[in-house]
Amino acid sequence: MTRTSNRNVEDVTVIERAKGSYVTIDGRDYLDGLSGLGCVNIGYGNESVCSAAAEAMARLSYSHGFAGLTNENAALLASKLVAMNGDVFDRFFFASTGSDANESAIKIAYYYWLLRGQPEKRMLIARRHGYHGNTIVATSLTGLDLYHPQFGLPLPGLVRHADAPFHHKYGNGLDPDAFGLEAARSIERIILEVGADKIAAFVAEPIQATAGIIVPPSSYWAEVRRICDRHDILLIADEVVTGFGKTGEMFGYQKFGFEPDMMTLAKGLTSGYFPMSAVGVSKKVTSVLDASPDDFEHGFTYCAHPVGAAVALANIAVIENGLAQRVSREIEPAIVEGLKGLDQFGIVGDVRGIGVMAAVEFKAASGKEDDVAALCHRVNLGLFERGVIARELWGSVAFIFPLIVTVEELERTFAALREVIAAVDADPG
Ligand SMILES: Cc1ncc(COP(=O)(O)O)c(C=O)c1O
Repeated sequence: MTRTSNRNVEDVTVIERAKGSYVTIDGRDYLDGLSGLGCVNIGYGNESVCSAAAEAMARLSYSHGFAGLTNENAALLASKLVAMNGDVFDRFFFASTGSDANESAIKIAYYYWLLRGQPEKRMLIARRHGYHGNTIVATSLTGLDLYHPQFGLPLPGLVRHADAPFHHKYGNGLDPDAFGLEAARSIERIILEVGADKIAAFVAEPIQATAGIIVPPSSYWAEVRRICDRHDILLIADEVVTGFGKTGEMFGYQKFGFEPDMMTLAKGLTSGYFPMSAVGVSKKVTSVLDASPDDFEHGFTYCAHPVGAAVALANIAVIENGLAQRVSREIEPAIVEGLKGLDQFGIVGDVRGIGVMAAVEFKAASGKEDDVAALCHRVNLGLFERGVIARELWGSVAFIFPLIVTVEELERTFAALREVIAAVDADPG
């Protein structure tokens, strides 16, 4: 069950152009039910964002963030993000991708512990089924085996993986909230085994998206926060997917009612119009860094890019202009309606979703992963033939819709999904 792409390499697909929620392939328009790679929150080709990019590029095509330099757009974006998060974050560090945001958050955590006189706090805890990107540390944090053997990762001694709060797979008859507490306590078991004095941070996605939209029970995150506080471990929320409205709240931590010490953002920060990421850092951490006479010796050539920052500001303006509110009011109810009854099909193991994200997990009579993957592939191809793009993810067909998707488009998508599942169910092979 290792397919993570829709097509084989010999069968590449050229995307010709895109507008709104649709991409054009071989002259045909497809509803992009995955919004790129879960990043095109506002849809493609938004004119206000395109103009903001062009204007910013004409005015200041590049500047960097070293040696006391900044630029107006980056400063405005940092202030905007601080304001959007209330008092939770004091400052934002800008980079280019979700992976380097996670990498940067870990370096901030290491420096924080060094300054607090505990340089031996270096081990990280992440979770099985988590995804955090493709650099050495981000791949090590990732809890999906597919990404490890080719590179001999995780790096030895760097990370321990706690249980995923995946009730459908591991619930074992427990009610969801009791299971959520159990899953959180697997973090504490690792802390007690390794020693809190050796652990820098716990890193986790509010919703495990890449592994197939795994939504934790509502008891989970509050208990995780309590455990991190009890053992003095930094809590880093990887909001690369969940940021900017996808859960129905602007950020995933708000949906689940906890406050992280750091948060990483990418994807929806610019809706994919520009490669830009960010790390939100709380006062608890910045106050320690600020007390040091030394600079934080970390940064990239493209940190605080003025064009990326202009794009992010214009993108956030679009999201704040009614899109975020649409998610809970219109999109989520339409998805819930669309998923209704799909679990009655014999090949469907689970249906789940939150905000604009949803997944249908398949099961095969043989119980074999390859057979489940084959079912997924048939359903995904059936959707593609009906003009909808989704993604096969570890036994699930998953959707991350753009925030502009209409109720009518959702109704059409789920009617197509129902039709394809019924056909595959009637002849599961
Ligand atoms: C939760 C999460 N974190 C980090 C990343 C890595 O982001 P990037 O591909 O921009 O490096 C991803 C990418 O899908 C992600 O889903």
